[in-house]
Order: sequence, then structure tokens, then C-alpha cells
Amino acid sequence: MAWFRGTSNRGFSSWGHQSLLLVVELVTIVLLCCMTVYSVGEVQTHNFIIQSTRVTRLCKTINVITVNGQLPGPTLEVNNGDTLIINAVNRARYNVTLHWHGIRQIRTGWADGPEFVTQCPIRPGGSYTYRFTIENQEGTLWWHAHSSWLRATVYGALIIHPKPGASYPFTKPKREAPIILGEWWNRNPIDVVNQATRTGAAPNISDAYTINGQPGDLYNCSSKDTVVIPVASGETNLFRIINAALNAELFFKIANHKFTVVAVDASYTKPYTTDVLMIAPGQTTDLLVTADQAPGRYYIAARAYASNINVAFDNTTTTAILQYQGLPCPAPGTSAPQPIMPSLPFYNDTNTATRFTTSLRSLNSREFPARVPQSVDENLFFTVGLGLFNCRTGQMCGGPNNTRFAASVNNISFALPQSLSILQAHTYGVNGVFTRDFPRVPPVQFDYTAQNVSRALWQPVRGTRVKQMKFGSVVQVVLQGTNIVNGENHPMHLHGHDFYVLAEGFGNFNPSRDTSNFNLVDPPLRNTMGVPINGWAVIRFVADNPGVWLMHCHFDVHINWGLAMVFLVENGISELESLEPPPIDLPPC
Ligand code: C2O
Repeated sequence: MAWFRGTSNRGFSSWGHQSLLLVVELVTIVLLCCMTVYSVGEVQTHNFIIQSTRVTRLCKTINVITVNGQLPGPTLEVNNGDTLIINAVNRARYNVTLHWHGIRQIRTGWADGPEFVTQCPIRPGGSYTYRFTIENQEGTLWWHAHSSWLRATVYGALIIHPKPGASYPFTKPKREAPIILGEWWNRNPIDVVNQATRTGAAPNISDAYTINGQPGDLYNCSSKDTVVIPVASGETNLFRIINAALNAELFFKIANHKFTVVAVDASYTKPYTTDVLMIAPGQTTDLLVTADQAPGRYYIAARAYASNINVAFDNTTTTAILQYQGLPCPAPGTSAPQPIMPSLPFYNDTNTATRFTTSLRSLNSREFPARVPQSVDENLFFTVGLGLFNCRTGQMCGGPNNTRFAASVNNISFALPQSLSILQAHTYGVNGVFTRDFPRVPPVQFDYTAQNVSRALWQPVRGTRVKQMKFGSVVQVVLQGTNIVNGENHPMHLHGHDFYVLAEGFGNFNPSRDTSNFNLVDPPLRNTMGVPINGWAVIRFVADNPGVWLMHCHFDVHINWGLAMVFLVENGISELESLEPPPIDLPPC
């Protein structure tokens, strides 16, 4: 397998014995000298047993699917340059795949995970080993199931430290803690989504948000399990915030504390100090927090940023407690004083959300330069938004006015293949699984963000179409939100690549006005970005990773409705620019 392929030594065979020995000695000396500087990464092996687990939250006990019985699942902690081998064993009754969100998967697209895109699902009783190396990435990422709504309970942190001997581009924090925001239903989430798929209506909203798996004090029956994060007065700690919720962007605050953002999506940023952040599903944000307030207990809290409050959403608030160490014990017969609660922005406070996202800049230091491509090979314009399918006979049509909810990119509502993954079909040359005609622009130009978009434009067409690109192409995509059915902020995520966010704005993108405002110097580098409600965003990336890469809204409800498309990046010239051969244990279709 390509993974373990050693360096070829065929070149030595025609050399004389003496010179061969000399070369061996020289190579040994060079290797010994270099190894201390360029340490080869380590290999970590983990078993992930996907299994049904009884879990109690909000006074209800239900069976959900977990990894190794844990919720959240195990935290993976590696160094940049390390190799992960995850042996996934499916003991659940559902198909499953795992995705390593934000990992570039250079040449290892077979380990990326979205079902029917890079692999067929692991069937109940089956297993598959994900193998990949972390190449030039450090910071906070995460992993999650990429099949149906399993990621509601199948997720965990993936933390990448700098290589041994290297350091963070900021003062070393005393302690670090992942803070994973999640979403909980009092019902099996697979039943929730299956019901919606059957009826064509929107799925039920969740019953709680969670921090590290726990809803916190403000919910029924949850106080005794509220997560407590201890801090010592005066210390600065690194909190790694991950939004693993399914369908909610979230505001996040810590009572009385400001914090400094130093990275997003495993890319360093210029330090940005604020007291509130907005984080979309799929995004991560690294914060330095100094315990500089009066010793006490302070709530860490998150609730929805619902860009369009006409769309039903879970309006509850999850909390954990930031607790200073060494607080006096409460007097006998009394309980500890209530923690101080931060005041969170109102649900549809788009100004606060926008102020936060547009304040982020790449660190762009000598060690971590921003490498923004200055010219573009593929100029694409994608509409992203909702739609409605007309009712066909025999269907249930629980959407508005006897329709079924839909969503699309350039009016194409993405349909997953059912028999073979796109990457396999591409590699083996199997026809009929997908087509290569994903359009560069929408079929019709219209006033995308108008109050009343003509009903004639509300019905997308289904398709499994990919946009094919040459290795190394510089790709620019204008992501244009539409006001069809409901305008909303859509957190768009690209697999296999990070992209620079050059600009964002409201209304329709206007090239003659907006191009001059592109940040081509230090734009933030991300893998997920919220396209503003009834607005647009421009992203740019180099398609330097051969394979098949899903781009989709990270609201799971919108993926179900078809808000996704696929980039197919061709192999380059050399082996190092080509996808590895498929692993032998790739799950059968
Ligand atoms: Cu977080 Cu397609 O994934």
C-alpha cells in the first residue's frame, strides 16, 4: 500500500561497491544530522467502535449511536506531521462513515469520509481503517459521522499541536480545554430526520444545545452534570471552541470576560479581542482567556444566531461554568452562589455576527504567511439557497402549500449516488453515477435577494453533477445567497481544502463595485464560512488536492434538502500530485 511504501533504492544497483558504501555513510550522516531538526511524525492508532449507547439527558433516556460509548466521542490529540490510523468498527444498526473535518487529506481522499462521495458507507458489522497524515496543519479541528444525522452524537475534537520543538505564535497558555458545542434531541436523531424525509416537512427542532455533551443549569434535570472548567486567577488558558451543532449557528460568551481569538479552523489569525463570538456549525475558534476577574463562578453560555427568526429554531441556552480555583466553601447549609450570566445578543443580531466574522484576519507572519493567489483560473458564481419541490403523486408533501422542502447550488439540488461513491466511479471509470456538467453560473440571472423572487424560480432540479478542475487551478467562487422560500445565513464548508474569504456583503454581489474591496493581503483562511443572510461571500483557493471534494451547507437539514455540490480535482503530473490508490479495505458498495 502506498502508505508504507519505502524509498526506492533501485538507483544504486549499477554503482560500484566502494562508492555505494561511501554513499551509505554520507546518507547516514545526513540523516542523523537532520533527524533532530526534521522529526518524522509519529503514528497513532485508535479503535473507534460505533455502537448503540443508552444516554440520559433532560430526564430522558434514549439509545443513540456513539463512538466507544462516549458523548462527545474521544478527543484525538496529535502533532503536526503525525499519522492517524483509525480503525472504525460498525456495531450499530445504521450505515456509517467518519469525516475528519478540516483535515486536508492530501492524496488520501479515500479517508475523507462523506458517504457516497468518497466511499460507500460501512455497513452494520463492517469496518474500515481511515489512514491519513497531518501535513502542515495545526490548531483545532474535529471529526464527525458523515452519514444521515449520525453526527448529532458521533463527533469529537481533533487537536493538532505544533511539531515537537515548535511553538504557538502566541504566549504559551497555562492550560487548554476543548469546548464542543452540540445539539440534542429527546429522540433518536435518525428518527427525526427520517420523519422529515418521509413527510417533506422541516425536521423537528432540537430540545437542547450542549457544551461538552451537557446542556447545563438552565435545562430540566441537568444541573448536577453541568460542565465545570477550572481556572486559576491570573492564568491565561486556551479554549478551543468547536461548533458541532447540526442546524444552529451560535453566539458564545463568557460572563465578565473578554477573550482573544488567535485561530479559526486551524489557521492562525491576528489576535482579535472581543467579548462575543459567532460560530457556525463546522467552524472552530481558538480563544485565549485570562482569568482576570474577581475569583468566582462565571457562566460560559451559547445560544442560537438565527439569521431569519421566521424559520423555526431552538431558542434555548446551554451553559458551562468557568470556576476560579480556591473559592471558599459555601457556609454549611447554603449552596454555592449562582454563577454570573452573560447577556447574549438577540437571536437575529446579524450586526454582531457580521462584526465578528469581518474582524478576522490571517496572522500573515513570516512563519505563517498568507499565500493569497493573486490571479484566478476558474471564476465561478454559485447561488446557494432553499427551494420547494412540487408534489408528485404518491409523495407526502408536508412543506408549504403542499410541496416538499428543497435546497440547491446553482439550482441543482444535490442527490447522493446510491450504488457507488463518486470517487470510486471516477477512479474506475464507471459511467452513470455522476455527470461532469455542474454549471459555472446559475441557469437564470435574477434579483437573488429580492423580497419577492418569482415563484417560477423556486423549483430546483435534482442532479449529481461535479465541477471538474485541473490540478493546481486557482478557483474563485462567489457564493450568492438567495431569498427563495427564506433567506438565511448558510455555513458553507469545503472538503479537502482551506479557502481565503476575500469579502462578504449584503444584497447581490456586484463585481464592478465589490471586486475592489477584496482583501488580497491577509484574509482569513477557513474551511467553513457563513454566507450572510440575503448576501454573498467570495472565497478563493488552489485546487491542489486531487480527488473528489464535497462543498455543502453545514446545516444538516440543508444537506438533506440538497444544498451541496462536488469539485473533482484531476491528478497533476507526478505521483506526488496524484491520488493514492484505493485502500484494499474500502467498504464494498
Ligand atoms: Cu463537517 Cu461535510 O462536513
